Amino acid sequence: MKFIEDCAQAHGAKYQGKNIGSLGDISCFSFYPTKNLGAIGDGGAVATNDAAIFEKLMQIREYGWKDKYISIRQGVNSRLDEVQAAILKAKLPHLNKMNQRRQEIASIYLKELSGLPITLPQLKVGCEHVYHLFVIRLKNKAVRDQLKTYLADNQVHCLIHYPVPIHEQPNYLNKVRTAGELKETSALSQEILSLPMYPELTNEEVLKVVDLIKSFKF
Ligand SMILES: Cc1ncc(COP(=O)(O)O)c(C=O)c1O
Repeated sequence: MKFIEDCAQAHGAKYQGKNIGSLGDISCFSFYPTKNLGAIGDGGAVATNDAAIFEKLMQIREYGWKDKYISIRQGVNSRLDEVQAAILKAKLPHLNKMNQRRQEIASIYLKELSGLPITLPQLKVGCEHVYHLFVIRLKNKAVRDQLKTYLADNQVHCLIHYPVPIHEQPNYLNKVRTAGELKETSALSQEILSLPMYPELTNEEVLKVVDLIKSFKF
């Protein structure tokens, strides 16, 4: 059995002192522009320490080629283009600093929003979170939707990551193998809200979000 790590939201995060991306047989990163390390267009990378998997991946990324123009397996065109690679190379040295800023913003939210009828993200022992998102959970869908509208009416726009779980997507209904009914996943998708989270947010802006949430009638 192989362990595939989805690191799309976890550049720089750690688990028991090890970098996310170093734990799986295959580790997949997204460099979509909003990610902690983001390009200016689509991009991604796969990391592995397994030579056989590496060779296979190198073939799949380029039409299944073993040698130029000779496809020996089903492949795709999935090369990271050079402009995106150059942007990512320039941004990589700033990743830790940007993650630290995300952590500072998260600590303000965690401190200021405690005591409200909101479930806040919990940090598990041995985990270093890099807060790609700051997701809160409300009592039910009605409260979640009202809070989202209230914040939007006050120029604070929040998104839901994600509103429809995979097993409820029209194309995947009854096609995803699951251990059970995934009731908790379905409930979460109705009750979660992602608060503004990006390194450029100022403390004043974070506190504006906090004040608005505190003034909301739960
Ligand atoms: C957890 C997770 N996995 C995978 C992806 C897919 O990334 P991409 O669209 O760059 O392939 C995303 C994108 O948002 C994600 O959040």
